[in-house]
Amino acid sequence: MANTQPYTWLDGEIIDSSRATFPVLTHALHYGFGVFEGIRCYKQASGGGAIFRLDTHLRRLYESAKILKLTIPYNYDQVFDACKQLLTANKLAEAYIRPIAWLGEGEMGVGAFDNKVHLSISVWVWGAYLGEKGLRDGIRAKISSFTRAHPNNAMVRGKVTGQYVNSVLAKREAKDLGFEEAILLDHQGFVAEGSGENIFIVRNGRVITPSLAAPILRGVTRDSVIDIARDLKIEVHENSFHRDTLYVAEEAFFTGTAAEITPIREVDHRDIGSPPNWPVTQRLQAAFRDAVTGKNKNYAGWLTPV
Ligand SMILES: Cc1ncc(COP(=O)(O)O)c(C=O)c1O
Repeated sequence: MANTQPYTWLDGEIIDSSRATFPVLTHALHYGFGVFEGIRCYKQASGGGAIFRLDTHLRRLYESAKILKLTIPYNYDQVFDACKQLLTANKLAEAYIRPIAWLGEGEMGVGAFDNKVHLSISVWVWGAYLGEKGLRDGIRAKISSFTRAHPNNAMVRGKVTGQYVNSVLAKREAKDLGFEEAILLDHQGFVAEGSGENIFIVRNGRVITPSLAAPILRGVTRDSVIDIARDLKIEVHENSFHRDTLYVAEEAFFTGTAAEITPIREVDHRDIGSPPNWPVTQRLQAAFRDAVTGKNKNYAGWLTPV
């Protein structure tokens, strides 16, 4: 997915995307020392666009940077405004937004402290991450042979570039084997998350998702879905579960900014529920869509108009 938009925000200014380049001897390119976010802007039912939970995403960006002790040389308000301005410059009401901060060129030793920290923001049009068909009919997933990293090994609360090697390996393995997504277990054998999504199951009409004690990213969509489910009077539990519980779930779905709410119709060749009918998942999908498109005013506080 190339960024084909005319403009990119780089180090404090909006520039022509063709000029948004960086040196080969960039520390982060070699060692993965960077942090990023994935955010979506949605066309609103009333016209125009609005960014979904920009505040929560940017707080996580700064938390990820704090975990690495990476000092982003722009403050929260500057980055907040930059996201909006970049969408306007590119004339986009619906887009994916990717801020990324990284340790730049200079010293090439692993422990470099003084290299410049850069920040860029790109936007591009990104449809359903796991396909429109996936959103409607569900996707096929596989328990990965790769384990979600131990929390002493990866900074699981941070969205850290280098840590995504684990996700890329899991995703590529799943795709090589004919599946659409990977589900990673944690070091104790509990279900953790997808390669770029959190995971939920439905059991006896109740929604269950791994708790934040698990080595998972604290997903903004996960958090939104928990709130929406509770507003719909659906019981939500944050508990660990094993792969066999997933196999016998009535419903299962992924949540993520890119994947939104994508039903999982099969895990390791076992049907989940009665594809393509998953009543709880479908209710949550509809309510989530109403929230992101501004149709349900109860969630207006989650939207930043562009
Ligand atoms: C590993 C991982 N888990 C979960 C998520 C979902 O997080 P969010 O809903 O904030 O996009 C993502 C996507 O950012 C991810 O990369």
